Order: sequence, then C-alpha cells, then structure tokens
Amino acid sequence: MKLKDQIAIITGGGRGMGRSHSLLLASEGAIVVPVDINGPNAHAVAEEVRQAGGKAESYELDITKGPDVRRVVKEVGEKYGKIDILVNNAGYDEVKIFSESDEEHWDWMIDLNYKGHLHVTHAALPYLKAAGNAKIVYISSDAARVGSTGEAVYAGCKAALMAFAKTLAREEARNGIRVNVICPGLTETPQFLANLADEKKGKIMRSVQKWIPLKRFGKPEEIAKAVLFFVSDDSSFITGQVLSVSGGLTMV
Ligand SMILES: NC(=O)c1ccc[n+]([C@@H]2O[C@H](COP(=O)([O-])OP(=O)(O)OC[C@H]3O[C@@H](n4cnc5c(N)ncnc54)[C@H](O)[C@@H]3O)[C@@H](O)[C@H]2O)c1
Repeated sequence: MKLKDQIAIITGGGRGMGRSHSLLLASEGAIVVPVDINGPNAHAVAEEVRQAGGKAESYELDITKGPDVRRVVKEVGEKYGKIDILVNNAGYDEVKIFSESDEEHWDWMIDLNYKGHLHVTHAALPYLKAAGNAKIVYISSDAARVGSTGEAVYAGCKAALMAFAKTLAREEARNGIRVNVICPGLTETPQFLANLADEKKGKIMRSVQKWIPLKRFGKPEEIAKAVLFFVSDDSSFITGQVLSVSGGLTMV
C-alpha cells in the first residue's frame, strides 16, 4: 500500500472526481476525509470507503467560509496530529460569455475556485508541516492553459491556482511539502454530464471533443490516478509541476 495510514483531506469529495480520489487513496491505505458543501454526499462517499474495507470520516464544509474551514481542518489536524495529503478538488463553473457576466458572477467564481483553496491551504499548513513529508495537489483545468470560451473568470481562477501552487512549492519545500497541479480536460463527472445535456453548453463541449487527440472525454478515475501519483512516493522528486490529464487536448 502506497499511503498506509496517511491522513488525506479531499475537498469536493462528495461526488465526481472528488469521490474517485477518495476511493482510490483509501484503497492505498489512506484515512480519507472527504469534505463537501453537500454533506450527505460526503458522508455517502465515506460510507462507500468503509464498505470497501477502507477508513474514512467526512464533513459538510463550504470552502468559501473561512471560519468553518478553520474549524474542520483543526478538528482533523488535532485528532491525528498531522495531515499528510490535501487534495484541493472542489470547484464549479457556470458557463457565461464574459461580456454577459456581472460582478456577482465574478465574486462567486473567485470565492470558490481560488479563494476557497487559500482558506483550506492556509488552515492545513501547520498540520501538513507536522507530517514531515506532506503533499498538496490542486485540481486546476486545461482551460487555465489555453482559455475556454464561456469560462473566462473560471479559467482565470484556475490559472491563478497554478501560479499560487508553484510559489507554495518553493516556499514549503523546506518543510518537506511537495505541491503539484493537475489540469483535467473534459471529464465525465456529474457536473460535466449535466452541462453536456444542456443544448448550448453541450454543443460547445462536443465541438471540443474532435480536438482531443485521444478522441474521447476522460473518466474521473483517470484523474484520480494522477492524484495518486502526486501524493505517493512515486513522485518523490517532483514539486511545483503541472500535469494535464486530458487526452492530449493541450500540449503546452
Ligand atoms: N469535469 C470536468 O470536465 C472538469 C474539467 C476540468 C477541471 N475540472 C475541475 O475538477 C474539479 C472536480 O470537478 P467535477 O467535475 O468532479 O465536479 P462536480 O461538480 O461533479 O464535483 C464538485 C464537488 O465540489 C463540491 N463543491 C462545490 N462547491 C463547494 C464548496 N463551496 N465547498 C465545498 N465543496 C464544494 C460539490 O458539491 C461537488 O461535490 C473541479 O475543481 C473542477 O473545476 C473538472
């Protein structure tokens, strides 16, 4: 087992990719803590892990609420005396052409897709340092690398995450913490499938499919495998890097 008894917080762990990360990391021996704004979903994933013989506990948590983030992260950190793995996965996009968007939309996107991760990371750092060999992964997006019509503010947040992660990788290397970023391409999660079913959004997404060299959308489990790589010793000499898992959609 690659992650035996390592404590792993997974934000947005209640469904989609977050669920896949939780299941895979638990299967490698991690004690996983899916946290999600949708509490019942987070609890259901933890139960799924336990049913499969793994260890998990879960919390309802909105990562945009600083005091709540600090309370939950402290509870986990104090219980185990450390946090080994933090997977910053929660995120959401409302597809909207920038000229048709307003400040309310920008604030929502930024609070969730950028600032929320600052809250969680800041709260977790003391416990990650205590682990001695901790790993942080940010789930960005290929939209951050090349842009994506209708996703201007979201893509901007995801690009900000990349710059933030690289800086954090430099600052925290002295504390034994490795920080890396994964950029999924179009991946078949519930959010994605809902967008695909929408006439306007689905049309844009299907038009992108023909530009994917591997000619298909990704599976959440395929993103989870990249997360496992970055949080295990298989990537022990890798930090501050960005990996696209997108069937070759971008090659920058
Ligand atoms: N699916 C794709 O095609 C795709 C592509 C590129 C990047 N991504 C990114 O991958 C990550 C996972 O996406 P997904 O497709 O699995 O989405 P999803 O909507 O299926 O899952 C996201 C999870 O985050 C949770 N969440 C939303 N707001 C939250 C908040 N404020 N606090 C805590 N949890 C919150 C949701 O409840 C949900 O369980 C996101 O960061 C997304 O931006 C997805």
